[in-house]
Amino acid sequence: MLGGADCVASPSSETNAGRAMLGLDPETSGSLGGMAISEAVEDAASHANTNYTLGSVLNHVCLHQSVIGLETLEQLKMAGEETADVVVGCAGGGSNFAGLAFPFMRERLAGRMPDCQFIATEPSACPTLTKGLYAYDFGDVSGYTPIMQMYTLGHGFVPPSIHAGGLRYHGMAPLVSLLHHEGLVDSVSCHQNEVFAAAVAFCRSEGIIVAPESAHAIKTVMDVASECTRTGEAKTIVFNCSGHGNFDLSSYEAYFAGALPDYEYPAELIAASLKDLPAIH
Ligand SMILES: Cc1ncc(COP(=O)(O)O)c(C=O)c1O
Repeated sequence: MLGGADCVASPSSETNAGRAMLGLDPETSGSLGGMAISEAVEDAASHANTNYTLGSVLNHVCLHQSVIGLETLEQLKMAGEETADVVVGCAGGGSNFAGLAFPFMRERLAGRMPDCQFIATEPSACPTLTKGLYAYDFGDVSGYTPIMQMYTLGHGFVPPSIHAGGLRYHGMAPLVSLLHHEGLVDSVSCHQNEVFAAAVAFCRSEGIIVAPESAHAIKTVMDVASECTRTGEAKTIVFNCSGHGNFDLSSYEAYFAGALPDYEYPAELIAASLKDLPAIH
C-alpha cells in the first residue's frame, strides 16, 4: 500500500486458482505454499511482463541463503569458537535452515566438525519433517510447479492458522529433505504456546522481540541448553534469528491473553491430503 501496490489476501477472487479454492471453502484460512504460490504462478504466467521466482525450497534459494552460514562460521571464529556442537534453525520451506546449516554441514562431511548436530524445528500444526512422507509432490495446491522429492504433508494440506505463518508450508526443500532422510539432520516440532514462552524469555534476557518463526528455533536452543545444564556438558549452540517480531505484536498480545490455541497434530487432514500425491511411473 505504501509503495502504491494493491494488496489482496490469498486465496483471492483475482485468479482461477484462488476462485477454485474459495469455491471449495469460502472460509479457508489459505496457505503459504499451497494457495499463495498457485495464485502467484498463475498471475506471473498470465502477464507477459511478470516472472515468478520461488522464495524458499528450491536449490538456488538454499544456495543463496548459505551466505548466512558462511558468515556465521566467520563470526564464530571472531568469538573464539572453532566449531559448533549444535546448529538449530526453524524450517518452513527449508531455505532459512539450509542457509545457516549447509556451510556447517560441509564442515561436518569434511570431517572438521564430525560431531556437529543439526536440528530443524517446525510447528506441530504443520509437521512436515516429523510426520510427513518422503515422496514426490507438487510445491503448490494447483500443481503448477514441478514435482519434487521431499518430505510433504500433501500439496492440498491446509495447516491450522498458527501465528508463525512463514512455517505453514506443506513441503520441505529437497536438499534439506535428503539430509533428513539420510539421518544427517534431526527434526523436532513445537506447539505455539511453548514457542511464545521461549520468545518472551528470550526478549526479557536479550532485549530482542523475535518473529514467531524464529522463536521455534529459540525454543529448541533453550531445550538443548537446559539439557546441557542437567548433564553438565558445555556445548556451542548456533541458531539463526531469522526475523524480528515488530510486526507480530498482535500475536504476542494473543499469547499474553491466553488466546492462542495449541493444535494437535492434524492426522486426519494430513492423511486425506496425502491421498492426492502425484502418481509416479
Ligand atoms: C522470520 C522467518 N523465519 C523463517 C521463515 C522460514 O523460512 P523458510 O521457508 O526458508 O524455511 C520465514 C518464512 O516466511 C520467516 O518469515
